[in-house]
Amino acid sequence: MSKMKKIISIIGARPQFIKMVMVKKELRKYEKFTELLLHTGQHYDKNMSDVFFQDLEIDSPNFFFRLGSGNHGRQTGLMLKNIEKILVQEMPDFVLIYGDTNSTLAGALAAAKLHIPIGHVESGLRSFDMKMPEEINRKISDHLSTLLFCPSKNSVNNAKNEGISSDKLFLVGDIMYDAVLFFSEKVLKKNTVLSALKLDNKNYILATIHRAENTDDPVRLKKLMLNLEKLSKKYTLVLPLHPRTRDAMKRYGIIFTSLSTLKLIEPVGYLTMSMLEKNAAIIITDSGGVQKEAYFHGVPCITIRDTTEWPELIDEGWNCLCSSLEFDLLLYKVERMVQKTGERPQLYGNGNAAVQIVKHLYNFIIT
Ligand code: UD1
Ligand code: UDP
Repeated sequence: MSKMKKIISIIGARPQFIKMVMVKKELRKYEKFTELLLHTGQHYDKNMSDVFFQDLEIDSPNFFFRLGSGNHGRQTGLMLKNIEKILVQEMPDFVLIYGDTNSTLAGALAAAKLHIPIGHVESGLRSFDMKMPEEINRKISDHLSTLLFCPSKNSVNNAKNEGISSDKLFLVGDIMYDAVLFFSEKVLKKNTVLSALKLDNKNYILATIHRAENTDDPVRLKKLMLNLEKLSKKYTLVLPLHPRTRDAMKRYGIIFTSLSTLKLIEPVGYLTMSMLEKNAAIIITDSGGVQKEAYFHGVPCITIRDTTEWPELIDEGWNCLCSSLEFDLLLYKVERMVQKTGERPQLYGNGNAAVQIVKHLYNFIIT
């Protein structure tokens, strides 16, 4: 009988906990796989990390680094050094990386240099904006990976266009769709957030802002937040604030004055967030994951960016870009998008991405 195959999943930031959990559930079904979790500690606050392990019922990671935050070079470098140490110690048969954060990049670099095959979940996405740290992380991670698990047809084409061989590319659908379907019943039970925040179903805007391009420039962040505050005078607005944005606002002295209509809250757990998303009239965000979740829940979305890695959502009319700081333009888009209804084709598979990912892993590692 062949020996157990060891897989190390490398995670570190909020969206990765959600993506990893679905693959973990599927890996558990195979006796021949044993999976170890390595958490880089990129996100470390209770409501950015622990809450997901509790909410989604995942055991604590096998390895957890308390590296803290920092500039890209320092953060990625420290992760690389620490991940390499664990990989040398454990010598896994395979490494899984997720998404496009610095934890993804450090995981890819560490594994590739040790000649450990890599599977990249959420491959091939491109914004074609190299100013985004995520675009750099995606490109390098894709080119270092052995198996590229792509969520959409566009992502497969992007990878092909960069010369990545077709036999490495697997169109498996979006892992976050698996999560939305899997947790939908649990989400329905978690309905206290609407009453706690005094929100009426389909009568509020949910907003999240955390991207560097929106938070690092004080003038831009100030205007953006002012626009959200102005919008909240027309529609109640809920803003679970990412710590990056909270810190930037503090640093630049940006404060809200209408906290009765603008409901400023701490980051919430996944189930609470899903409840807020599902019942919103419209979502305003610069998050990658939230754009897709809006679509899965049938909620129109405005993306506060120039580009998106999810262009299918724009083509279908469920998402639109708005990086302008003109309040009137934002308001116009809100009033137009809020009326969006109609078909939602299955752009991202049918919710069995994890099944397919693990099947491909099995074919690669075991057979
Ligand atoms: C990272 C990812 C981004 C992803 C986001 C998900 C990179 C380059 N960026 O951005 O792609 O969309 O995670 O949320 O990897 N902070 C805390 N507590 C925490 C975590 C962060 O206070 O638990 C604060 C610190 O001030 C830190 C800042 O947030 O400097 C930024 O954190 P960092 O992980 O570097 O980047 P994110 O903006 O979270
Ligand atoms: N999310 C959450 N609580 C929040 C904000 C977001 O659970 O307060 C979830 C959201 O539902 C999605 C993921 O975090 O599943 C998206 O993460 P984020 O926006 O931080 O990063 P991105 O997707 O842009 O990389």
